[in-house]
Amino acid sequence: MIGKLNHVAIAVPDLNAATAIYRDTLGASVSEPQDVTEHGVTVVFVNLPNTKIELLYPLGENSPIAAFLAKNTSGGIHHICYEVDDITAARDQMIKSGARVLGDGKPKIGAHGKPVLFLHPKDFCGTLVELEQV
Ligand code: CO
Repeated sequence: MIGKLNHVAIAVPDLNAATAIYRDTLGASVSEPQDVTEHGVTVVFVNLPNTKIELLYPLGENSPIAAFLAKNTSGGIHHICYEVDDITAARDQMIKSGARVLGDGKPKIGAHGKPVLFLHPKDFCGTLVELEQV
């Protein structure tokens, strides 16, 4: 069911330093920082030939990545995002398989303006999984 790897999201404690690592040390093409207020993050997109890396930095008081960074003070992989053709069909299949969909189970509009869902890390090898309809 899942298709391409859309992105890997890495939470970082210092967005400028992380951007410099990807741009200068690794020689990747990086975007300007973009505030995604509704998701409580500032994002820098690292564009690779076959996928994207998203550097996530907390934005605002109740950022969903603040607790993650409190535990992982050097930063770390926060989630991976797989593409699906039909988010509702994917959600129904997850529930049928006994996997937990986070929140109220209704797809939300993600950072790329497309419907997304998040799946419980304990059901997916310890990794927070995002599904995005493309
Ligand atoms: Co994501």
